[in-house]
Amino acid sequence: MLGRSIVTLDHFILDRQIEFRYASGELSRILYDISLAAKVINREVNKAGLVDIMGITNATNVHGEEVKKLDVFAHREIIKSLRLGGQCCVLGSEEEEDIIPIRAEDSGEYIVLFDPLDGSSNIDVNVSIGTIFSIYRRQTAVDSVEGLRKEALQRGVNQVAAGYVLYGSSTMLVYTTGHGVNGFTLDPGIGEFLLSHPNIQIPAKGKYYSTNQGYYHLWEEGLKNYIRYLIEDDPATGRPYSLRYIGTLVADIHRTLLYGGVFFYPGTHSAPKGKLRLMYECNPMAFIIEQAGGTATDGFQRILDIKPERLHQRAPLFIGSKVDVEQVHHFLQKGR
Ligand code: AHG
Ligand code: MN
Ligand code: MN
Repeated sequence: MLGRSIVTLDHFILDRQIEFRYASGELSRILYDISLAAKVINREVNKAGLVDIMGITNATNVHGEEVKKLDVFAHREIIKSLRLGGQCCVLGSEEEEDIIPIRAEDSGEYIVLFDPLDGSSNIDVNVSIGTIFSIYRRQTAVDSVEGLRKEALQRGVNQVAAGYVLYGSSTMLVYTTGHGVNGFTLDPGIGEFLLSHPNIQIPAKGKYYSTNQGYYHLWEEGLKNYIRYLIEDDPATGRPYSLRYIGTLVADIHRTLLYGGVFFYPGTHSAPKGKLRLMYECNPMAFIIEQAGGTATDGFQRILDIKPERLHQRAPLFIGSKVDVEQVHHFLQKGR
């Protein structure tokens, strides 16, 4: 019996190129460039602990958070790969305060916003970490820094592609170009991402909820009521749900995508917009989850409809199976 034919990411990108509105191969090249950077980052993640790439640099990033060396390494690798690829006019990274304009001679039609290393707090304890990317096409021909800043602040609904890399027990790349969601697993033996999860669909309802419940006392009443509802013992409605929280957005979303359920990182009185960044965490994850049949909101509106004002702005995030996110909204509305 012949096994399923082996489909590499590069073949898949090329085969599906006709689906892009702009089938010129530029977007394909960007996806290739990102997958190349992912392989290089993966090699360092796997070596981490053996070489002095772990631990803390003395630097802190724009958010005042300690920047671990792997963050900086990943940030630089992605910029290098995209700059060489020549398809982008401007980049935006969690690790850089302002946009990163690409010189006119290397410039292209696309914008890539990215979280080079997601889950930094988990680097030193060998827990899964990730990379997140969000791709837009430029809307104007302006090349001024001010014009490029505007290009980098499009609504999430304008994304032409989004994806993540999960450096876990195996390394996976999951992405969408608006025609469904597909997952690829890295075969280190041949250095290729192979199609392992074609056409991923999120279950309509799950049995997991995923949040940092340590902040429970800071949440609005409706959300507390939702948690109290979820942990009641009522097998007929699939309760109690189980709590799963890894603390790496990529890993928590990947599990939610495959198993269903709901992830949320809500706002609190002291941090009304929560912690997660709209442009390179919430928007790409929302695009992926919606393409897989799920829902993503900020507790009020669709994440992808939010009009961005700043590159590093935060947004509350409620994301996952349609039935579960609708149920959270029901409790939020009742509590307001
Ligand atoms: P990053 O490492 O890119 O700053 O992202 C960390 C984020 C995200 O990965 C995760 O969901 C969240 O921080 C966890 O926050 P808490 O530690 O507050 O739960
Ligand atoms: Mn992150
Ligand atoms: Mn990060």
